[in-house]
Amino acid sequence: MASLDDVADARNTAWSGAGLSRSLREFTGPQVPVARIDGRRLLLFSSSNYLGLATHPGVTGAARAALGVYGAGSGGSRLTTGTTDLHTRLERRLAEFFGGDGHDDAVFFATGYQANVAVLQTVAGPDVTVYSDSLNHASIIDGCRLARATVRVFPHGDLAALDRLLGECATPHALVVSDGVFSMDGDLADLPGLVTVAGRHGAWTMVDDAHGVGTLGETGRGSAGYHGVRPDILVGTASKALGGEGGFVVCSPAVGTLLRNQARGFVYSTAPSAPTVAAVAAAVDVLDRSPELVSRLHANVRECTGRLGVRAHVSPIIPVPVGDEGRAMALSRDLRERGFFVPAIRWPTVARGAAILRVTVTAEHTPEQIRALTGALRELTTRRG
Ligand SMILES: Cc1ncc(COP(=O)(O)O)c(C=O)c1O
Repeated sequence: MASLDDVADARNTAWSGAGLSRSLREFTGPQVPVARIDGRRLLLFSSSNYLGLATHPGVTGAARAALGVYGAGSGGSRLTTGTTDLHTRLERRLAEFFGGDGHDDAVFFATGYQANVAVLQTVAGPDVTVYSDSLNHASIIDGCRLARATVRVFPHGDLAALDRLLGECATPHALVVSDGVFSMDGDLADLPGLVTVAGRHGAWTMVDDAHGVGTLGETGRGSAGYHGVRPDILVGTASKALGGEGGFVVCSPAVGTLLRNQARGFVYSTAPSAPTVAAVAAAVDVLDRSPELVSRLHANVRECTGRLGVRAHVSPIIPVPVGDEGRAMALSRDLRERGFFVPAIRWPTVARGAAILRVTVTAEHTPEQIRALTGALRELTTRRG
């Protein structure tokens, strides 16, 4: 039998031979528009710190204060030593801000990834068929793999196909799951349509609003607020617009109790630390009293999409289609040489031959910084053909 190292080497060689190698970029400072990356100052256009809350004094101050009182670690899972009064208060605050209409509970997990996996594994047993959009996030795909449910994947955004598949459902229950904002293309799910189709078949709905939270709607209440619909299960993450880390599920009290008792990612994983929880609660407070941050983000999205001439867009994820993987890598490298950090996204994150430059803008970018990026992009894409 070959050694593990030999097998790993062979796989690494095959991976890099296919042009898929990736390396870690080292930041030596915060996620701000002018960031220090690999020892250089670069204009950062790839962060999900959409509102700049990761460095907001109210947020960092709350984390520092909690560190002094509770220490660095929680010492156990939520059901053992890991729940503090801060966790309880945060869950109430998340439910109040993102919930309503009987969705008055929220459950906080260590990450959004964990929340998606845990919810699907808990809710989708053998008596459920899960209907999942083909471009859903990897954490939903992994949750579907771990669920003991039947899984049907419907073509991206194709509600007619979803309707047809739901009509063939052979289990007592059905769950339709979709990203609210798709993480690579930044397009929005048609949630009103999705909820209507699901409702026609008595199916439950779950929306992963990782990139909608804090970015969509005038007050940043996310996809549900933007579209005026309420999915049965809303998953959000604190790791993007809220500037911290952690995932949360906004749901009814019955579903909340089910998750706290049976979600493996909740029961068998150490609770997020008090400083993390305090930071997220402070971020929600800042968002609640600062709608101008959201308006500034929206203005920057308009500025960037307008200058790039890409289709009108409301989310801060702005894909620049390139196609060829090698060309996307070369463009990203050229941009870095000119002082911009914009990652190339390739297969397996997007389809083969559909590589993109994935630009994200934040409320903290200045119009001049956006103009500089779009100018460089225009020039480079013209030069590289
Ligand atoms: C759509 C989507 N869902 C879930 C996640 C996972 O969230 P987290 O980074 O908090 O684990 C991400 C982020 O990478 C995402 O883009």
